[in-house]
Amino acid sequence: MKIVPPPYRIKVVEPLEMTTRAEREAYLEEAGYNPFLLPSKAVYIDLLTDSGTGSMSDNQWAGMMIGDEAYAGSNNFYHLQETIEEIMGFRYVIPTHQGRGAENILFTVMLKEGDIVPNNMHFDTTKAHVQYRKAKALDLVIDEAYDPSSQHPFKGDMNTEKLREVLTRDGDRIPLVMMTVTCNSGGGQPVSMANLREVSEIAKAFGKPLYIDSARFAENAYFIKLREEGYQDKAIAEIVKEMFSYADGATMSGKKDALVNIGGFAAFKDEEMYRKSTVWAVFFEGFPTYGGLAGRDLEAMARGLKEVLDFDYLAYRTGQIKYLADRLLEAGVPIMEPAGGHAVYLDALRFLPDMPREHFPAFALTSALYLEGGIRAVEIGSVLAGRDQETNENVYSSLELVRLTIPRRTYTERHLDAIADAVISLYQNPTRVKGLKFIYEPPVLRHFTARFNYV
Ligand code: F0G
Repeated sequence: MKIVPPPYRIKVVEPLEMTTRAEREAYLEEAGYNPFLLPSKAVYIDLLTDSGTGSMSDNQWAGMMIGDEAYAGSNNFYHLQETIEEIMGFRYVIPTHQGRGAENILFTVMLKEGDIVPNNMHFDTTKAHVQYRKAKALDLVIDEAYDPSSQHPFKGDMNTEKLREVLTRDGDRIPLVMMTVTCNSGGGQPVSMANLREVSEIAKAFGKPLYIDSARFAENAYFIKLREEGYQDKAIAEIVKEMFSYADGATMSGKKDALVNIGGFAAFKDEEMYRKSTVWAVFFEGFPTYGGLAGRDLEAMARGLKEVLDFDYLAYRTGQIKYLADRLLEAGVPIMEPAGGHAVYLDALRFLPDMPREHFPAFALTSALYLEGGIRAVEIGSVLAGRDQETNENVYSSLELVRLTIPRRTYTERHLDAIADAVISLYQNPTRVKGLKFIYEPPVLRHFTARFNYV
């Protein structure tokens, strides 16, 4: 596949050091076979996440020098607020230390015990925030999302029939409807404009506000431009504007499509919601014009939000994901198709068809990949899914995935080739992947700190 050269050149570099296999074996044992517990210096290519791991531009770094560190009313806050209003159309903005800070504020205002939150697919922190309030996180994504080989162009779409049903049946328990763009837990798959529009119409008909979890909004807009009828000639900025026109507010992790290493925000159209939220902003994050961030961070986020709308950047970024996906597909490696916006997802159930589910095949694959090439990936499968709230049984999720998450503006095609080589070599030698069992299992968000050993 032809890949365009990156629309930037490299001005600052960060050295990487390759370890020996024996060193990696020791590091992995020390980390309890959990990639989250590996020190970064032990990792050669870090694909744990695309969150806060990207490279900022010279323009963003320059902006950091004009950070106004006033406690209240920083210049950079106003710049951020104006930028969000211009790009997304939300008048009211509360910066937060990252996306989950915004979720915390929104759900503190909106949720009570027994409520239900319909979403195409909750990200794990969003789900945890809902469940922490003894409310139910309901995933209503279309069935195709659960079929890794379905070529549906918008596998992040919500099943609107199911949304109507639940609003009709349990409307009094539903304070808001959410849409996650792109749908991270479903493979970085986009949501179509048509679906966003329809979800918004349904929510409106039932008198419910719609909030967009917008971590990867620009990548979503790129896929709309590429794949949806009627958007080919529209600029990314126009598409983004239309996407958010259907929503009443948004939560944002700036660590993704605001191209920063830390930061986020909650944004609202409604002044009343903003007022209620500021109380909790002060409580959890800080005064509502800084929200746990330095003035310089607000400036970097404002500038990143504009940079991310560049078509060439988005084409190159998603092109990298497609390049890696194509290399794996050529070798027959089972992955989630079509390639998403920020990661390639290995389908561990087809990669390791003989490994029992209780040996956590996707998690086991992350260990093997680290040993193979010093590559750190992340499981999006049954360890992440946790236990059933009622029965306390392990939830064996319908998808058992390994996410090879590509940081923004960070790695080259040579890195991608090294990743592909390591994955292909394991696929051809599956006995090198050994199943895992828990030796320590924390009660919530277990994937972050659990420890394992080989079965
Ligand atoms: N929503 C989505 C869709 C996300 O992917 C994330 C984070 C969040 C919300 C929370 O934002 O991390 O800034 O607090 N996703 C990261 C990931 C952690 O690796 O996919 P945060």
